[in-house]
Amino acid sequence: MIRAAGLRDLDTLESIERASFGADAWSVRQLREELTGDRIVLADMDEFGVRGYASIRVFAPDAELMRIGVGLGSRRQGVGSRLLTAIEEAARRRGCDRMLLEVASDNTAAAALYRRAGYRETGRRRRYYRSGADAVLMERDLTSEAGRG
Ligand SMILES: CC(C)(COP(=O)(O)OP(=O)(O)OC[C@H]1O[C@@H](n2cnc3c(N)ncnc32)[C@H](O)[C@@H]1OP(=O)(O)O)[C@@H](O)C(=O)NCCC(=O)NCCS
Repeated sequence: MIRAAGLRDLDTLESIERASFGADAWSVRQLREELTGDRIVLADMDEFGVRGYASIRVFAPDAELMRIGVGLGSRRQGVGSRLLTAIEEAARRRGCDRMLLEVASDNTAAAALYRRAGYRETGRRRRYYRSGADAVLMERDLTSEAGRG
């Protein structure tokens, strides 16, 4: 089940952040702002709790994917894909026709997820990340289902 994330999810989101982003993980304070500000944050749940979450910033007609993270024990089970589809739908309902995102060039899992969902590369910021990896700019036309696998 996918539902809006709220402050009750703070602890779980923090542990997914740490597992997913290490030194770049959002702090509790940043997560609190994310959950109480104007972002749309969705959480994927099963009977044991939150498995993953995704957040977007809406500046219609564009939306920007800020985060998508899935707990280590729940990966490769379709959670990330479901969250991406759900957050795209939320963006469409808010009048958006394009989703933008940035992914590190060495993040093969996320890049594969996005490509499979129909995102295409539109540019790069070279050596953008601390690791020296490029930031790959990607986008998807939300009015088209083309490219979904
Ligand atoms: C990227 C991430 C969200 C994917 O979540 P997930 O729930 O494991 O993704 P899914 O199970 O929906 O995978 C969908 C497809 O993406 C691709 N994919 C996902 N993980 C992959 C991996 N480790 N290696 C290669 N391809 C991968 C595959 O094509 C996969 O389909 P398949 O399992 O049928 O082969 C997850 O790995 C994660 O939380 N990573 C750390 C956080 C992060 O990097 N977020 C993105 C930057 S903001």
